[in-house]
Amino acid sequence: MADLTRTGITAANRAAWNASAPLHATGAHWHQLVARAALPGFSVLDPVISALLDGLGLQGKTAVQIGCNNARELISLAALGIRPVAGIDQAGGFLSHAAVLAQAAGLDLRLIEADIYDLPADVGQFDLAFITIGVLNWMPDLPAFFRVVHSLLVPGGRLVIYETHPVLEMFDPKSPTPHVPAFSYFQTRPQDVTEAITYDGQDHGAGERGYWFIHPLGNIVSACVQAGLGLVELKEYGHTIREPEYDIYADRAAQIPMSFSLVAQKPRAAVIAAASL
Ligand SMILES: C[S@@+](CC[C@H](N)C(=O)[O-])C[C@H]1O[C@@H](n2cnc3c(N)ncnc32)[C@H](O)[C@@H]1O
Repeated sequence: MADLTRTGITAANRAAWNASAPLHATGAHWHQLVARAALPGFSVLDPVISALLDGLGLQGKTAVQIGCNNARELISLAALGIRPVAGIDQAGGFLSHAAVLAQAAGLDLRLIEADIYDLPADVGQFDLAFITIGVLNWMPDLPAFFRVVHSLLVPGGRLVIYETHPVLEMFDPKSPTPHVPAFSYFQTRPQDVTEAITYDGQDHGAGERGYWFIHPLGNIVSACVQAGLGLVELKEYGHTIREPEYDIYADRAAQIPMSFSLVAQKPRAAVIAAASL
């Protein structure tokens, strides 16, 4: 029987990600990524998140990425003048790819192989905690997740999330009726992910079983705020940041939200002191 405790879920997800890791560091796409990472100004970040980050005045500040995978986005922060310092991911298979990309980029990153719910004590604190597409849905416990994010920020530090919109999670592009909702927005039981995890829209066969959650936007924002982070901005977008098979939901007259960005800030000590007067 499946172990659907938090620890059981994160262990299953770790196995699923590690099993698919070899599929991601092969072929022309990977070799081009390594070559591009060595070039000045390397970035895989799209114009929307680049402009958002650029406007936050984080130049020269330190960053950690949570669920950094191969760290291509963490490394990309350098092109915006932000200092990529640490990447956290529990899949060591992907951190070995991250080490290759960091070396190509000439960056000395601290790559921390750990479950976000069970971090080593010495991780430290950063000016920016960065979370990008495909991380929140693997998290079995959002309130605990955001408490960890809070602990990773210095006072005044910013959290930036750029993620898939949960409304998009209601649709299955492989369904014969892909525009009819296939899943409830309010489904709390995770979906079993049984195929190998890749982003190219191709079938790579079976993988290890992992667990994928639909977290409603209200739950995400509430968990963030209840962890003690102040909401600065929440934006919803009609553009896709997902795999190519989701392109059928973009550029439509009756557009569903496909992605969102969220900026939150850890209160400065002075604000806490003032508030407690
Ligand atoms: C979809 S990938 C992120 C991809 C990245 N945004 C990109 O576009 O390159 C999600 C990552 O979250 C990591 N992850 C999932 N659950 C985790 C956990 N409990 N602790 C740490 N990392 C986790 C996975 O190992 C995986 O590398």
